[in-house]
Amino acid sequence: MPAAGPPAAALDPSWVTADPTPLAPDHAQRLAELSALDPALADLYRRGAELLAGAADVAALHERQVALLGRERGIVTRGLAELPSLPVEARKVRGRGLNLIKRWLSEIEAARRLVLERAAETRETIDVTLPGRRPWVGHRHVLGRIRDELLDLFHGLGYSVYESPEVERDEYNFTKLNFPPDHPARDAHDTYFLTDDVLLRTHTSPGWVRAMEERKPPLRLVFPGRVYRAEQVDASHMDQFHQIDGLFVDRNVSMADLKATLNAFARAIYGVEARTRLIPIYFPFVEPGCQMDVECSICGGSGRVAGEGGARRCAVCKGTGWIELLGAGMVHTEVFRAVGYDPEEVTGFAFGMGLERIAMMRYGIPEIRMFLENDVRFLRQF
Ligand code: DAH
Repeated sequence: MPAAGPPAAALDPSWVTADPTPLAPDHAQRLAELSALDPALADLYRRGAELLAGAADVAALHERQVALLGRERGIVTRGLAELPSLPVEARKVRGRGLNLIKRWLSEIEAARRLVLERAAETRETIDVTLPGRRPWVGHRHVLGRIRDELLDLFHGLGYSVYESPEVERDEYNFTKLNFPPDHPARDAHDTYFLTDDVLLRTHTSPGWVRAMEERKPPLRLVFPGRVYRAEQVDASHMDQFHQIDGLFVDRNVSMADLKATLNAFARAIYGVEARTRLIPIYFPFVEPGCQMDVECSICGGSGRVAGEGGARRCAVCKGTGWIELLGAGMVHTEVFRAVGYDPEEVTGFAFGMGLERIAMMRYGIPEIRMFLENDVRFLRQF
């Protein structure tokens, strides 16, 4: 008597199979036991076990499980449903075999599911719809950018870069630059001494002495670098900062050459309209010495800015209309003598400027300490 209900599901011949032994160590004994009952039962078990073991993912496993053990159309289920139509002896043998198959295949299915779920947990899953993670990038330091801009400018005027040591001898930082021993000009430099003779350079001017001792004129050099002074730190003073000195030595170099060079520099930095002035001032290593000021770009040189209750004193130039930009002058004959140049033969000019000051002026940075904090939120603004 044929059993009622739907026909058994078909096992797709294209389904990938695998050896079930890792999932069911006694697979071979099971086959032997079933073969003794009925080779057809052993075949059914082997096929089912290999299909379950070969399922590549949970969906495939489910599909195969339904085809084998599904409540309606599963092959094993259907076989069990047909038992009542069999003669007693055959019914006993098939019933026992099918029940073993059902149990064993269920075990293999569960074991395979565990393997697949574990693999899914540990596999790195990539959600392609998530925004990408950008590698974290820093930002060039504003002082480095200004230094390079200035070096570019002076390169265009024919200057090359000369680097000299940050740890310097007193002789180069002071003596050969015409600071006599015990001269009060030394005190203005608040020097960090390492020994009586060795110090952290207080300016980049010692570079000229080294360059002139090494080379013959003509010279056209710039000296960028970090300098140190034992200053009380506040919003506009740090115990380390940066300078660029420049040196031009040749025959017949004049103050007019100096002025033209400094004007070219000021206009490149502050615009072609920028007005400048030179004021006499003392530095031991130049004669005459001067300070160059540029007209204050905040108040336009008037010294006053519009405020809430009328015009107020300009805070940037402190009401003077001018901003001190750099020191400069004609190289002192004593400096030429100290390096073995003949002051009857050559003349030259020099200038020196602070990078922090230029950056603070240009960008309205109120606090010199910000340059050293390396906070990328600060640096990214430039
Ligand atoms: N070296 C001086 C300082 O740090 C600045 C300076 C003045 C440099 C005049 C020069 C110069 O080259 O000619 O205070």
